[in-house]
Amino acid sequence: MKTLIKNIKQLIQVRDHHTTKVSGLEMNYLPTLTNAWLLINDDKIENYGGMENLPKIEADREIDATGRMVLPSWVDSHTHLVYAGHREQEFIDKIKGLSYEEIAAKGGGIVNSAKTLQHTNEEELYLQSLQRLEQVIKMGTGAIEIKSGYGLTPEAELKMLRVAKKLQKAHPITIKTTFLGAHALPAKFKNNKQGYINQICEEMLPQIAEENLADFIDIFCEQGYFDLNDTKQVLEAGKKYGLRGKIHVNQFNSIGGVKMGVDYNSLSVDHLEVMNDEDIETLKGSETIPVALPSCSLFIKIPYAPARKMIDAGLPLAIATDYNPGSSPNGNMNLVVSLACIKMGMTPEEAINAATINAAYAMGLEKTHGSITKGKTANLMITDVIPSYGFLPYSFGNNHIHQVILAGKLIQ
Ligand code: NIG
Ligand code: FE
Repeated sequence: MKTLIKNIKQLIQVRDHHTTKVSGLEMNYLPTLTNAWLLINDDKIENYGGMENLPKIEADREIDATGRMVLPSWVDSHTHLVYAGHREQEFIDKIKGLSYEEIAAKGGGIVNSAKTLQHTNEEELYLQSLQRLEQVIKMGTGAIEIKSGYGLTPEAELKMLRVAKKLQKAHPITIKTTFLGAHALPAKFKNNKQGYINQICEEMLPQIAEENLADFIDIFCEQGYFDLNDTKQVLEAGKKYGLRGKIHVNQFNSIGGVKMGVDYNSLSVDHLEVMNDEDIETLKGSETIPVALPSCSLFIKIPYAPARKMIDAGLPLAIATDYNPGSSPNGNMNLVVSLACIKMGMTPEEAINAATINAAYAMGLEKTHGSITKGKTANLMITDVIPSYGFLPYSFGNNHIHQVILAGKLIQ
């Protein structure tokens, strides 16, 4: 099946195979082709070029993209999309002035979501998650990472990961899964944190590996949650099963999680709202990519990751939604791209690089996703008729995605 897209006003993020991620020094450059065509063969990008050199192509389907931009789909490298229920009551309590601790004391927070999820059966959890997946697909996301971590028991953690894997069969979006057993300490282990770490490493992980349910491992490395010693044990255990880290660090405090992540050659370190100079230095020259989550900062009113500082230091940067019921009940990558520009001082070029090629790297998908490259998966978005790609972040809160193509299939 061949699809030809013609008269593309601008084909965006056109790269060769060699680009796996874009460093801070190059992020302000976004390679484009004006007045272009693109040919899809089955699920892959076969070729592209300028309209002045359009060869004779026998296509099964033609799409006229006059006035429209074509971009590689957004890549959302950090989400908790599989969850049960919602926490808008906490949101209201927060508006009324309750602190995070007071909300937690009322049974709120991560353990609140865990309780709901434990009582939600697999089919129901699947249906709730499927609805969110379909929502983000419409908003242009073509690859997504999904974490466990709202189960906090062996049964519930496995249930989450099974649901995440099952979602892969529903739609041609690319899904990677991450085991986040160490997201919060369940009440049962209140005075026995090591007991829970042991359960994660010795009970949950072997089963998850056996069933092939996770691609990566994660831990919430933060004061009051899990410390460096816990992080080391979890990353070590993950390594035994070939799972690289994608870890929550530096959301509220810098306690050495960035260095631990780099020491274990983690694929990414995520959140980074609080970064000191040493953390930035540590990331230089490493294979670990920093990931900022601006919609989390917006929603729970915490500082934004110092994106400008990281980019100016030459680091590559990715951005993601952190879609979850507590700190970012929103999976809209278009909004994240806007917030990167509005709140973190990134240029549209930097934000689009951070949400495509660098985000693909942050999911281990840099060879197949994140750019318009011959041979890559045909995951694309066709925009509305818009004046420029800068219009996308400028027109914040609006989505200008006209059509979505995933693995060569036009999604209705
Ligand atoms: O990535 N920081 C830790 N975990 C989630 C949100 C936790 C919650 O449900 O409140 C996050 O922001
Ligand atoms: Fe998160």
